[in-house]
Amino acid sequence: MTKELLNKLTLEEKIGQLVQVDPSVYDISEETELFGVSNDTYYVQKDRFLYGSILGINNKNHAIRIQKQYLENSKHKIPLLFMSDVIHGCHTIFPVPLAQAASFNRNLVRKAATISAKEAASSGIHVTFSPMVDVTRDIRWGRVTEGYGEDAYLTGEMGYELVKGYQGDLGNNNVAACLKHFAGYGAPDAGRDYNEVTLSKETFFNYYMPAYARTLEANPKLVMTSFNTLFGIPATANKYLLRDILRGQYAFNGVIISDFASTSNMIAHKYADGPLSAAMKSIKAGLDIDMMSDVYSKHLKLATEKDPSILKLIDDAVLKVLKLKEKLGLFKDPYRGLSEDNQGPQFYDDGTNLELAIESVVLLKNNNLPLKNEKVYLMGEYADSRRTNGSWSWVGGHISNNKTLKEVFPNQTSYEEADVIIYCFGEGERESGESQSKTNPSVKLEDVKQLKQLHDNGKKVIGVVYSGRPLILTEVEPYLDSIVFAFYLGNQMSKAIKRLLLGEANFSGRLPISIPLNVGQIPMYYGQFTTSRPRNTDDLTEQYVSNYKDSPNTPLYYFGDGLSYSEVKYHTLTLNKTKLSEGDTIKLSVKLENLSDIFTKEVVQVYINDLFSEIVRPKLELILFEKVSLNPKQTLVVELELKYESFMYKDGNNENKLEEGPIEIMIGSPRKILLQETIEII
Ligand code: GLC
Repeated sequence: MTKELLNKLTLEEKIGQLVQVDPSVYDISEETELFGVSNDTYYVQKDRFLYGSILGINNKNHAIRIQKQYLENSKHKIPLLFMSDVIHGCHTIFPVPLAQAASFNRNLVRKAATISAKEAASSGIHVTFSPMVDVTRDIRWGRVTEGYGEDAYLTGEMGYELVKGYQGDLGNNNVAACLKHFAGYGAPDAGRDYNEVTLSKETFFNYYMPAYARTLEANPKLVMTSFNTLFGIPATANKYLLRDILRGQYAFNGVIISDFASTSNMIAHKYADGPLSAAMKSIKAGLDIDMMSDVYSKHLKLATEKDPSILKLIDDAVLKVLKLKEKLGLFKDPYRGLSEDNQGPQFYDDGTNLELAIESVVLLKNNNLPLKNEKVYLMGEYADSRRTNGSWSWVGGHISNNKTLKEVFPNQTSYEEADVIIYCFGEGERESGESQSKTNPSVKLEDVKQLKQLHDNGKKVIGVVYSGRPLILTEVEPYLDSIVFAFYLGNQMSKAIKRLLLGEANFSGRLPISIPLNVGQIPMYYGQFTTSRPRNTDDLTEQYVSNYKDSPNTPLYYFGDGLSYSEVKYHTLTLNKTKLSEGDTIKLSVKLENLSDIFTKEVVQVYINDLFSEIVRPKLELILFEKVSLNPKQTLVVELELKYESFMYKDGNNENKLEEGPIEIMIGSPRKILLQETIEII
């Protein structure tokens, strides 16, 4: 059907399918999020009923009105595709992605995506520009909040669950997922957004690509290219990346869409000398849809006259777009079961939001929690804020439903009468996200002063950190009796914090990214290498070793850190074998005991250390985690499996490698290995 339809289209009609515009091209309404100035500078007014997709819809009636108008004016009745940024919720706003990663809870993350998809689909959205699975080791980069942290394995696991949750069976309660930003966007030099990415191939293929690869296993229907260059060429026109790696090595056969005007951004990159060159390079590299630029809408036809081989590439691209529309059922029903009414936004949260919010909070320090009957005084700029949704929640943006912490917390009294101060500080929900890079992601000076004063006044202080990104807490750590890293948790933030501080719920979050001692350590990550001169001591005066003279090498808080109200003892690690050959699997049994008298959840983390490899590997690599529940005083044996492939690494051509020899298997976290065994790869 799609092939026959393709053959009926003129070149102009084909190119139209590869152009994405914003809703104002068809219909100015209060729901339209205007992307800058929407005029016909980037599109051709007379061609608007040829265009294939729209971004930025989040209202069912608006979508239906536009679709109806479009189909009335469309010769071939090819429905429009509606795409939007449903990043951590549509109308129900869940914790920001980095916080969700801290839950280490695959099931909850998938459930949240399933709910988000149903809400998005009910609002007329067909595709979400999510999951963002850009690994990053740099908290200066504002978009760290949108990803799942510094580790490719954890990020990939989250990406996989999100795609499965969004797409389901691609029915009318599902949306197509768009893996982004391909590729390497999370590693901009100096942590500055949109800056060049200068990763080596070995680094990219070992510590960034695996997150995309695992997410691709869930079969997302789209991939979005990134703004940055990789290996010297803008990702959006990087043939090696798109055709050789993505389509070749990973057999991705879905739609590749550019990021916002990243085709025309190639001119700024000095990679294209104008939009015609950008059009030719992009289509040849394998880009299908051009988002919000005039490169395809005004220059792709001319490109075919300069190089007729492009005509076939256009056919291939258009066919992918038509197939996506077919998979979403749009040819059968362009409205996917929706009809105009005054229902307004639909909320389908079933309690998952509060559960995920609670599991996303990380307890970093504890000297006075849980609270019992203490009188508390809440202060800090976020104590009475409803703005708890975090960045990229513009689709829903409903903060009216949000409670402030002051509204929900019991036993509040005056500062003088208070036994404990709850101090809510950090950075605003819009201070992280796109174009929010900072050279110094630390605690604001006024908070440092205030916390020092509270400390000097002898007050007990619980610090609750509201931040989309990790903040450097070194200066205030001594002033805080307890530290709760709450990120931005969405609609249920205040309720989640209240329940946790009062012990009505137990902490189970773990850091998905390291928190440095200072900015100078950045990029800081747990997967450090031994280097040619490993340190022998913590003595900073030690010479001719890989250390600093003014700071330890270690972070303030490690990836995988997180306290709870219970203590879990790791008794034994038992392996069913100690030699592993290709195609084989090894079974691990980890015996845990909950020593406390309260229910808890524990994230069992499995790391390896390959003692010899032809491309050097870090001292620690996370290759498996499982979050398990433990009742009071319960002893549990956790059974885990590791395939031979889990131990492999990549060379500069993205080929798998693994030498014979010893590999350590460690259970615990980068801060503290608790159990360890060594196996032999044979
Ligand atoms: C933005 C972002 C991308 C988003 C797109 C559409 O610039 O880079 O993540 O999906 O434009 O809003």
